Amino acid sequence: MAGTPLKLELPPLTLGNITVDTPVILAPMAGITNRAFRRLCREYGGGLYVSEMVTSRALVERNPESMRIISHDDDERVRSVQLYGVDPKTVGAAVRLLVEEDRADHIDLNFGCPVPKVTRKGGGAALPWKLDLFTGIVRTAVHEASKGNVPLTIKMRKGIDEDHLTFCEAGRIARDSGVAAVALHGRTASQFYSGQADWNAIAELREALPDIPVLGNGDIWSAEDAVRMVRRTGVDGVVIGRGCQGRPWLFGDLMNAFEGSAERFRPGLGQVADTVYRHAELLVETFGSELMGLRDIRKHMAWYFKGYVVGGDLRARLATVPTLEVLRGLLAELDRDSPYPGQDAEGPRGRAGSPKRTALPEHWLDARVLDSSQQADIAAAEVDVSGG
Ligand SMILES: Cc1cc2nc3c(=O)[nH]c(=O)nc-3n(C[C@H](O)[C@H](O)[C@H](O)COP(=O)(O)O)c2cc1C
Repeated sequence: MAGTPLKLELPPLTLGNITVDTPVILAPMAGITNRAFRRLCREYGGGLYVSEMVTSRALVERNPESMRIISHDDDERVRSVQLYGVDPKTVGAAVRLLVEEDRADHIDLNFGCPVPKVTRKGGGAALPWKLDLFTGIVRTAVHEASKGNVPLTIKMRKGIDEDHLTFCEAGRIARDSGVAAVALHGRTASQFYSGQADWNAIAELREALPDIPVLGNGDIWSAEDAVRMVRRTGVDGVVIGRGCQGRPWLFGDLMNAFEGSAERFRPGLGQVADTVYRHAELLVETFGSELMGLRDIRKHMAWYFKGYVVGGDLRARLATVPTLEVLRGLLAELDRDSPYPGQDAEGPRGRAGSPKRTALPEHWLDARVLDSSQQADIAAAEVDVSGG
């Protein structure tokens, strides 16, 4: 595209007492948006960086892994935590813990998880279908968060499938319950990550909720995509997940784009190698274990090197790298002068998958409120859950 792009006339995003100057949010991603990755992203640009989701029950029980998930760097100014939960009491207790112990400045609730083991029990993206349960959770969470003046937001999908859409109703309930913003991933649970995110649904929600910020999510792979989403849907901010995998510098591009600058990060292979190494070091620090840090960096390799000239054998060795020392050796084998490959390094990455019918509890779709057996089962929906 020729010429200087116009500055995007988008004011800072206000979430209660928090102002996010560049209205860009790193989507919560289980297994990805830990302290290490958030730090890397933060170094490139402004925005709000959400933790991996933590289940309310595990947090209330102070499970060590949950305490790791909600930990932040000392200089992380907006400490943002995402909770997953299915029961108002437990979610309320988790919010209370975060607020009373001053462990978060922003709390998001996850109503978008499409994973069968979650939806089969009525959790995640299946939950907003049950209006009584959804309302109970959001109201309780907002009430507890308000005691510490902590803004609470929700993140959801369009619904269970195209015949069972929930987003407009859930958005209104959340607004009426006092949330600071709602984020919509423009897919149904049945779509998983397949097909294309429906930005029209995002525009529809923006129109339906004129009085609170609406955030758009789905299929933003570049700063240009983010600008397009804002222009097309009128959202107050964008939420970016897979597009940042292996590209923490996307936050720099986003800040530039939103400020009207055409400057973009186009790292050569040397810069990518340095970022991979730094990411690995930060992971080792985050996990307090070289073994765990290196295990974690492996899944990022294909994303970092997408489109770059890296031999198949070296790629395979990078994907099984055991120590920082071996990583240093492997990265030294790369041609550091190899330039940014352009298009090949861009576009979709990460989870895709194919559509499937959403697994649901028996008779879930028959009514919009819980029956007594569903009520009894719902508590089990929180056990052993990770990822969205
Ligand atoms: C690996 C992975 C983990 C995810 N974990 C979460 C999560 O913990 N909480 C959540 O609300 N969404 C989760 N999501 C969904 C993302 O936040 C986001 O809504 C989705 O990826 C669509 O945005 P995108 O097209 O920008 O990737 C996850 C997605 C991926 C790919």
